[in-house]
Amino acid sequence: LPRRRDFPLLKTRLWGRDFDSPIGLAAGFDKDAEAIDGLFAMGFDFVEAGTVTPRPQAGNPKPRLFRLTEDHALINRLGFNSRGLEAFAARLAGRRTRGWVGVNIGVNKDSADPIADYVAGLEAVAGHAAYIAVNVSSPNTPGLREFQARDALAVLVETLMAARAMLTPEGRRPLPLLIKIAPDLHDDAIADIAVVALELAVDGLIISNTTIARDNLTSPLGAEAGGLSGKPLFDRSTALLNAMFRVTEGRVPLIGVGGVASGADAYAKIRAGASLVQLYTALIYQGPGLIDRIKADLDACLVADGFTHIADAVGLDSG
Ligand code: FNR
Repeated sequence: LPRRRDFPLLKTRLWGRDFDSPIGLAAGFDKDAEAIDGLFAMGFDFVEAGTVTPRPQAGNPKPRLFRLTEDHALINRLGFNSRGLEAFAARLAGRRTRGWVGVNIGVNKDSADPIADYVAGLEAVAGHAAYIAVNVSSPNTPGLREFQARDALAVLVETLMAARAMLTPEGRRPLPLLIKIAPDLHDDAIADIAVVALELAVDGLIISNTTIARDNLTSPLGAEAGGLSGKPLFDRSTALLNAMFRVTEGRVPLIGVGGVASGADAYAKIRAGASLVQLYTALIYQGPGLIDRIKADLDACLVADGFTHIADAVGLDSG
């Protein structure tokens, strides 16, 4: 592998784990854990694989992914195409490089027991994951986002935490459990999620998934159904990130994702409250060179503002 530039200011520590930088790949790019080694070679300092469903499923009919080039955006309605947990877990276990791999878990479209699907996901990958991301925010699986409601979320999280406890060896730190939420939430829903996260000691929130909103798009493909990602999602997802940082008073680690396409964007997420940052859509438009560029530019932002550790900038724009 090529030797990468080292950025001491970008090193950060979360859940007892050291990250070389806060820049990671968002879920949905490597749904089947097929490309993890290559993704680390591209410069990501953590990778979220998945969403994986328990049983293999094909997802929605094609076309199901659209480039809104003028808007630097994508719309997707993939619908959790997945080769299933068994194949996923085998590939995850067989990867050759080190590096933190989070696993994003979901449910089969025809599932009779969605909570059991999430538990199956947790159990299948726990031995090889750096964290678990519980996806309750994809717009492309009917009913999924209803798990964001306060009582449903609490039951889901409690069930997963009980399953996690069974898997955690005596004296060992439990696998971090994170919830990935949608950007299309009202203020009372934000408050409810904050309460559940704080009361149940959720290890983190990933903010956010794609949006079903369609604000100010130029491309005629803006009318396609599905989740919108990329530049038009930046403001909405950053505002939610910041709102969540404020209501949780910075006590829940947040991963900021949505429309990050530059070092300045990543810096804005961090100042809004993100401890880690992910991206996907900008990689499609700018290619792998983007990752080192973001790290170098983020480093320059920190130097310009006089920071010596990235953690010192987290949440500074929260008023
Ligand atoms: C996604 N995203 C996604 N999220 C998730 O939790 N599970 C998934 O399977 C997928 N699949 C997926 C496919 C495609 C084609 C895209 C573009 C996105 C959402 C993704 O992880 C991220 O939250 C959003 O795309 C916002 O970030 P960007 O793309 O604006 O950087």
